[in-house]
Amino acid sequence: MSGYQHIQVRSVSSALGAEVTGIDLSKEIRENALAELRRAFAEYGVLFFRDQDLTPEDHVRFARCWGEININRFFTPVAGYPMIAEVRKEPKQRTNIGGGWHTDHSYDEIPALGSLLYAREVPKRGGDTLFASMYEAFGALSAGMQKMLQGMKAVHSSRHVFGAGANRPADLAQRLGHNELATQDAVHPVVIAHPLSGRKALYVNPGFTVCFEGWTAEESQPLLDYLYRQAARPEFVYRFSWRPGSLAFWDNRATWHYAVNDYQGERRLLHRITVEGEAL
Ligand code: SIN
Repeated sequence: MSGYQHIQVRSVSSALGAEVTGIDLSKEIRENALAELRRAFAEYGVLFFRDQDLTPEDHVRFARCWGEININRFFTPVAGYPMIAEVRKEPKQRTNIGGGWHTDHSYDEIPALGSLLYAREVPKRGGDTLFASMYEAFGALSAGMQKMLQGMKAVHSSRHVFGAGANRPADLAQRLGHNELATQDAVHPVVIAHPLSGRKALYVNPGFTVCFEGWTAEESQPLLDYLYRQAARPEFVYRFSWRPGSLAFWDNRATWHYAVNDYQGERRLLHRITVEGEAL
């Protein structure tokens, strides 16, 4: 049986994001439904699905509709499913994963297209995820700043986050590993023409961007800080509240995200699959 009943896509904020209803992701998705989802993904940057009852196999199958799965080399995987990264915070753990603005895998030479995060267990309240639009972030800059940034590249790295020298809290030790694999840096344009929409998006982020190419870190930081303040303006941000069975699918080239850590003493457990992208 097909998962396409009557898809409806409803924008949830002026900046980004849409809720999709009328689809059961545990079923095979027909091509006409996928075409509608592809269009919505390119337009809204992040799609939200509610009340989905997914096995890990369903999650993997839906992710594969979007491309090859990128096996995250740093996250602890779900037991028996190396392609699913576990985003877990236990009641005794103070630090969460993703608790700062970032976009996944910008440290890779070919950054991921997007990530599909599925909620299995969520706190009674809190534990929301914020999303920010990098189209809006770029569009709000002056013409002069836009022109300058379009001639620039930036260096992204995983070393300071996942590497051996990273200043990582001890309570994340069981959640992340393989710090010996955090070796490479990647250089990307500061402004990308988005591969799906063709729109210009700012492509630097506080999590992984270390400097502009050809600039020192010290020279880069003031301008990066200015761009980060612009990008995180409230009007460019949407806050998503999870329920068990919610799935968010975001575009890593057009958005940032931030996992809010305001639920100490409770468990939060989500499964994340990341899909391969293309060179920017
Ligand atoms: C992530 O950064 O991928 C995790 C986001 C979240 O847990 O809300």
